[in-house]
Amino acid sequence: MRTQVVIVGAGPAGLVLGQLLHRAGIANLVLERHTPDHVLSRIRAGILEQTSVDTLVAAGVGARLLAEGIPHDELAIVHAGRKQPLDLTRLVGARVMAYGQTEITRDLMQAREASGQETVYAAQGVRLDDWQDTAAVVSWHGSDGVRHSVEADLIAGCDGFHGVCRASIPAAAMRTFERAYPFGWLGVMADVPPASPHAVVYAHSDRGFALCSMRSRLRSRYYVQCPLSDRVEDWPDARFWPELKARLDPETAAAVVEGPSIEKSIAPLRSFVAEPMRFGRLFLAGDAAHIVPPTGAKGLNLAISDVALLAECIAEHYAGGHSKGNSVALAAYSDRALRRVWAVERFSWWATSLLHRFPEMDGFGVRMQQAELESLFGSVAARTAFAENYTGIAFES
Ligand code: APR
Ligand code: PHB
Repeated sequence: MRTQVVIVGAGPAGLVLGQLLHRAGIANLVLERHTPDHVLSRIRAGILEQTSVDTLVAAGVGARLLAEGIPHDELAIVHAGRKQPLDLTRLVGARVMAYGQTEITRDLMQAREASGQETVYAAQGVRLDDWQDTAAVVSWHGSDGVRHSVEADLIAGCDGFHGVCRASIPAAAMRTFERAYPFGWLGVMADVPPASPHAVVYAHSDRGFALCSMRSRLRSRYYVQCPLSDRVEDWPDARFWPELKARLDPETAAAVVEGPSIEKSIAPLRSFVAEPMRFGRLFLAGDAAHIVPPTGAKGLNLAISDVALLAECIAEHYAGGHSKGNSVALAAYSDRALRRVWAVERFSWWATSLLHRFPEMDGFGVRMQQAELESLFGSVAARTAFAENYTGIAFES
């Protein structure tokens, strides 16, 4: 078997890259460990920056997103029971879009099927056999139990944080940066109208952080900060709803419609970056290279901006007549991607630090958080900086 680019992982990064490459006339094969149903069952993010929307449109999967996605011109921050709206459109002339990752994945899977590019689901034991100098060879066990292999010019490691691609890189060739946070997010999905259908609400409170989001006009997504030691069983619906409301401002709390949860999970929060994002013929993108805490909704957007850039570099590489692994365009990928990655890491870390209750925080730390939130409430300049980062920083690269 032979292709131009082997993409490991059929999450948003892998599937968007596959579509962008296909549209640039570049053959690619996607290898995914799980089944399509399993990939679709994962409940993840739901807020898209305009640049992510633009990339999805360019990838040919914009129709349903533009028809069914819900534009948000605002977001809101709650502090000390008061709600401060941030009018994104007025502050920075941009907005975000609420559209679930599950729906994006569904659209991408359909487009991939129509494109005729091959995807192998349930590919077990994916191994990078060669990716350093002369060729890229990747092998896997198919559902037939037979080991298959493919030769390619390049490998895109889009296999998430626990994937095989980053793990294949010798530790000495890579530097990693990490911050673990001393709390998690309990997420609840419920088929009830959202409390705040036109703006995500981020709430700082003495009881801890809370977030009101949505997937559609009839599906709400809520989160509350919880200790890392908590288990989902500790949070029956009867405990969740009053706790969520106790962390919100009175108006938003009154608008919460309670209903049975259809999904509930606890996720730890982490910041992580691996540098560089390229080793020989292997290019990392999305969660395979970096993780952000979910405050600010950047994970999915960063995965999409990585692959938009990677697709551009790969297309430039082939346009220059290179079939082998080296060209100026490919050499530039890692540095260009990392500039944006670190900017987004900073915002996600800062928003997390601002809005959560840290167990070890002393009185000074609490006052600093309060002062910073007051400055956000009182200063148009501070709100503008927030809005700029939230809607996606414009990047020259
Ligand atoms: N072989 C093949 N596939 C693998 C392997 C492997 N060894 N390891 C992981 N995968 C697959 C996973 O099953 C998954 O479908 O790679 C895919 C990685 O997808 P994601 O984890 O969604 O990562 P990514 O595409 O980078 O998207 C990142 O989306 O929702 C957000 O918070 C999420 O920030 C994250 C962003
Ligand atoms: C979500 O809708 O799941 C969501 C929204 C905003 C965030 C994080 C998650 O910051």
